[in-house]
Amino acid sequence: MSGERYDPVANPYAPGAGTPPPALVGRDETIEGTEIALRRLRSARTSQHLLITGLRGVGKTVLLAKLASLGEHVGYRVIRVEAVGGDDTLRSLLRQARRIVEAAGGGSAVRRALRSIESVSLTVAGTGAALERQVARPDRDALADVLVDVGKAAVDADVGVMLAIDEAQRLDRHDLRRILAGIHRAGQDGVPLYAVVAGLPNLVGEVAKAATYAERLFTVADLGPLSPRQVADAVTIPAREIGVAWSPAAVERIVDRSDGYPFFVQTWAFHTWNAAVDDPISAGDVDRAAPHAESTLDASFFAARIARIPASEVAYVRALASLGPGPHRSGDVAAAMGKTTPQVAAFRDRLISEGVIYSPRYGWVEFAIPHFDRHVARELPDRP
Ligand SMILES: Nc1ncnc2c1ncn2[C@@H]1O[C@H](COP(=O)(O)OP(=O)(O)OP(=O)(O)O)[C@@H](O)[C@H]1O
Ligand SMILES: [Mg+2]
Repeated sequence: MSGERYDPVANPYAPGAGTPPPALVGRDETIEGTEIALRRLRSARTSQHLLITGLRGVGKTVLLAKLASLGEHVGYRVIRVEAVGGDDTLRSLLRQARRIVEAAGGGSAVRRALRSIESVSLTVAGTGAALERQVARPDRDALADVLVDVGKAAVDADVGVMLAIDEAQRLDRHDLRRILAGIHRAGQDGVPLYAVVAGLPNLVGEVAKAATYAERLFTVADLGPLSPRQVADAVTIPAREIGVAWSPAAVERIVDRSDGYPFFVQTWAFHTWNAAVDDPISAGDVDRAAPHAESTLDASFFAARIARIPASEVAYVRALASLGPGPHRSGDVAAAMGKTTPQVAAFRDRLISEGVIYSPRYGWVEFAIPHFDRHVARELPDRP
């Protein structure tokens, strides 16, 4: 017990969206597997690609970024996009593809790649394709060619291409199919193109629906909560590096409060550090931080999600929350609203496309945001 506060400037924890944690725990296997896959592809061997799934805040974006920098390190040029709905995603993909191709020089592979990029660009509103380049015809399906051709052009420059797509559940279904076709064909043609595709858990189903072969293209890394041991590492390793210790009871309290969800782990550790007065940091310190941790979670993480819910869907969200944690049958949610499943299907579909809920299996729904049911019960308690 020291009674002195820890320096908030030195606080090592990193709650946020895509903010790299001070200790990236529990991902070694995936990182190693990806490095092997990348190196295999560059030595003309085949590899499965990677599909990262998980609920909000489990660390998909952070892992994707880590793998992207690994890719750069082992000789890949990275095309990194976050699917946002509309044509912006594709516009960004094409811009990055063009940059890679232009850097690859002027051979015939490069000319072919520029032509397929142009064909797709002509279908994307507002790309302002240069007039003299309009030798190409508008063709959205050429998106598959873009991936293969960019990969081939990159070979001339002795690099591979990594395609990293975040929030991929938001991709237009047809574009997803085209992208998968490109990845598939690149594999058949021995082109060193590696794809990492991340999104909410229903992405696996979306990918499978897009093409019959698609699920076999990928190894799935389904990110769940961290184990108690991993939470302990995430919390204690960064502190130990700067001479600060956590008591086992304090770590256990963080495990309980966070249920192992990485974003909650970072949030609780961050606020505990700022509120702590004991040395080592104690369970009492975690309790002292509780009002801060809970109010920031309510005001940021959860509020941002609530803000995305159209007024017409609030009743559906309330009904699902009223059934408690875990997945529930769509029919039970409808019943809790006093309606039938078909009557509420449109609400359900819109909430899925907003990434608020997902369907873990046919006829079931669950919040895509951990602990969201509790938050809704707290913040949206009354029926309108
Ligand atoms: N392996 C990990 N170990 C410790 N902390 C982690 C780990 N992965 C992510 N985090 C932390 O968790 C938080 C959320 O990470 P990230 O933004 O990558 O999640 P996400 O799955 O992409 O969430 P969303 O679905 O909302 O985009 C960040 O604060 C990050 O520092
Ligand atoms: Mg993310």
